[in-house]
Amino acid sequence: MGSPTGSKRSSRSDSLAGAAPRSSPVSKSSPTGNLEPAAENLGLLHGNAVIEPGGSDEDGEFSPSEFDAESISDQSDSTSLGSSIYDHSYVNGRRYHRYRHGRYPIPNDEAEQHREDMLHTMMLEATDGKLFYAPIGDYPQKIIDLGTGTGIWAMEMGDRYIGAEVLGLDLSPIQPTWVPPNVTFLIDDVEAEWLNGDDWDFVHLRNMIPVMKSPVGLLKQAYDHMKPGGWVELQDVDGDVHSDDNTIPEDWPLKKFTEYMLEAFAKFGTNAHAAVFGGQYLAEAGFVNIQHNYIKLPYGTWPKDKIMRLVGMYYRTACEDFFPAVGAIHFPMLGWEKTEMEVFFMQCRQAMRDPKVHAYGKMHFWSGQKPYNAE
Ligand SMILES: C[S@@+](CC[C@H](N)C(=O)[O-])C[C@H]1O[C@@H](n2cnc3c(N)ncnc32)[C@H](O)[C@@H]1O
Repeated sequence: MGSPTGSKRSSRSDSLAGAAPRSSPVSKSSPTGNLEPAAENLGLLHGNAVIEPGGSDEDGEFSPSEFDAESISDQSDSTSLGSSIYDHSYVNGRRYHRYRHGRYPIPNDEAEQHREDMLHTMMLEATDGKLFYAPIGDYPQKIIDLGTGTGIWAMEMGDRYIGAEVLGLDLSPIQPTWVPPNVTFLIDDVEAEWLNGDDWDFVHLRNMIPVMKSPVGLLKQAYDHMKPGGWVELQDVDGDVHSDDNTIPEDWPLKKFTEYMLEAFAKFGTNAHAAVFGGQYLAEAGFVNIQHNYIKLPYGTWPKDKIMRLVGMYYRTACEDFFPAVGAIHFPMLGWEKTEMEVFFMQCRQAMRDPKVHAYGKMHFWSGQKPYNAE
């Protein structure tokens, strides 16, 4: 069974929660012909919408208030409580979870927590403030967030669904102590035997499937502990580069970066491109009514539209902040020396500032329902 977490940080969940949807200037067609779109008003960067280029990379375009690292830096101190569950380990200057040590090879330190929270803000911008697309109704009672990270999604869900019980699970004790009264965090390995209760109405995983060793095994466990009629939703980037106008050069450094990531993730027994298989995993686990949406996340500020440029700036920053994280374990594991990495990461940073390359990543949203007649 998991244990309560205890790091000290106050909730930052109010930044964009409940934001009124903007009207979308783009068409909203389903990216998959045979699947129903999961919701109306799918957002600015949804699916088949073509992003018009024309933006530039003007320094200082976005004021610090739109993402102010300083404003959250005093809220992310973790406190070791002395037990092994709350301990951390260190590799190449980065901090990692100690519980089930080595299970998740990405740091859990302040830098990574800031990156995750920034990605959350980016998601709210890119989806017009949505936290999910699954049609869970207005009164879910039990919501579980597997791999909750800093807990920011779970806390926003707690604020929006005050009648629901929300539980967030993670290997790392990096969630705040002061949280909405209906939100709880536990330390647990979500791929271990499920010991976290039954009757879940909504099971949510964001940026998790590509780091799971057995996505289907995990989803089967979730299925077994959900209410009939309950929903699960997977939200993951596909770890790839795309463009609608063939502007990505074959040797584009970011493209090479994604190839190295695929190789490195495979060494940990996981698939960096797992997001594209979400529907298949859900079906194999027994879920029905599978729905799919995706949004485009520009690598940089090349789009003409200002909101898209803001999303692109967040995404580029998240990628740049990811370089030192994977530079600590993944790249050395592939045989890279420090100076080689530094040169390569610099090339990647420059690549994302080339306005001629209209590249984006895809964030997939897959949801599935446990049949009402399931046992
Ligand atoms: C990329 S972060 C995503 C955090 C959060 N879902 C979000 O979107 O803000 C992945 C999180 O999953 C956690 N994690 C990875 N493998 C896990 C496992 N087997 N059990 C529990 N948590 C895990 C990591 O500790 C990390 O906090």
